[in-house]
Amino acid sequence: DFDAFDISEEFGFILEEPLTHLPDYYRAWIDLANNLAHLIESHKLRDLVHKMPVLSPHHLTSHRELRLAHLALGFITMGYVWQEGQHAPAQILPKALAWPYWMVSRRLGLPPILTYADSVLANWKLKDPTGDMEIGNMDLIFSFPGGETCRGFFMVSLLVEMAASSGIAGALEVMHAMKISDLVGIQKGLIRVTQSLKKMKETFQLMHNHVEATAFHGTLRIFVSGWRDNPMLPRGLLYEGVSTEPIFLSGGSAAQSSAIQCFDALLCIQHEEEAGAFLTRMRDYMLPPHRQLIETLSVCSSLRDFITARSGSDLCQAYNACVSALVDLRNYHLNTVAKYVIVPGNKARSLGCPFRGVGTMLNSTGTGGSNLMVFLKSVRNSTEKALITER
Ligand code: HEM
Ligand code: ALA
Repeated sequence: DFDAFDISEEFGFILEEPLTHLPDYYRAWIDLANNLAHLIESHKLRDLVHKMPVLSPHHLTSHRELRLAHLALGFITMGYVWQEGQHAPAQILPKALAWPYWMVSRRLGLPPILTYADSVLANWKLKDPTGDMEIGNMDLIFSFPGGETCRGFFMVSLLVEMAASSGIAGALEVMHAMKISDLVGIQKGLIRVTQSLKKMKETFQLMHNHVEATAFHGTLRIFVSGWRDNPMLPRGLLYEGVSTEPIFLSGGSAAQSSAIQCFDALLCIQHEEEAGAFLTRMRDYMLPPHRQLIETLSVCSSLRDFITARSGSDLCQAYNACVSALVDLRNYHLNTVAKYVIVPGNKARSLGCPFRGVGTMLNSTGTGGSNLMVFLKSVRNSTEKALITER
């Protein structure tokens, strides 16, 4: 089961042991990506990209090489577009970046923009390879400006994703048990999902120790922004040497994480129209086998109907506990978004600097392009509505 969806019991959707080096031929990419934060801050990145040779992507062979290439080109692209801030985004991506990025993206089934599958799932290494996977022993492969806030944001997201892995295993267990009407198996799987959701919320709290709101909002956030539903780049981005028309792609967001969408699918959470459409569109930013798992769970699961018919049972209680844990996680997330996006945005505005940082435009729009508070509350409320009233 796990192999078919390119996941593992221990790591879930996380890429195991990502590569940090490519064949020497790709030195130009890796050199830029390794020094990215510095090159952006000293305003040198764009000039260096203009001098970059057009490298052929054909010497990349394995999946892990392609993932590192997609990650490196993604970081360089975001840095290139946003180097000069919100008022002077690049509107054309030069061919030396655009063409190989396009080709690598096609082979992976990902869009040519930095995704969650890159910046979180494939952007980590252990400082001491024999040590544990805990935040003190981990580092990013590539970084944006923002120092520890950047490291903390991607690292804590990764640890939350890690905590989701046992829940994915639980979801597969429920799916299997449903097929053979094994009530005990369904209940055991649901309990595993609930425990995982609680662990995710607990891990999420690490955000507050590692991510500082002003740096997140004023420095880091713009670099994960995209060119769809984004007032800063209303006409999209032209990929030179690839297409004659600009294209529109959403920025990165944990809405592109497959984990929560798997839990929604399993528990048959029905999102309202606009929110549901946004979440479904975010699947285009996931790796195809991961997207496939969500789709398989959505098709298989008549779990909620099955359990509604047994309301009042232990099974029903296990289902409701699971939904409640998901509501809790989403409420915690909402509070975090208020702290890191809404409050610093209001502060920047009240300082009388409507054009400072990204306070103005990105305040009500998420980096993924959603109308963020309306969207997040709608998603939380639909989750709550799935609770089955006991008779
Ligand atoms: C969606 C902000 C961390 C999971 C969103 C959205 C925003 C946001 C604004 C709306 C989509 C968009 O970008 O347009 C933040 C901030 C974070 C944070 C400021 C930390 C400082 C996380 C983490 C997770 C997560 C660690 C992992 C569980 C999600 C999910 C969605 C989402 C699953 C889609 C909506 C849902 O299914 O409830 N986030 N996020 N976020 N985020 Fe986060
Ligand atoms: N999606 C997150 C935001 O909008 C990163 O800030």
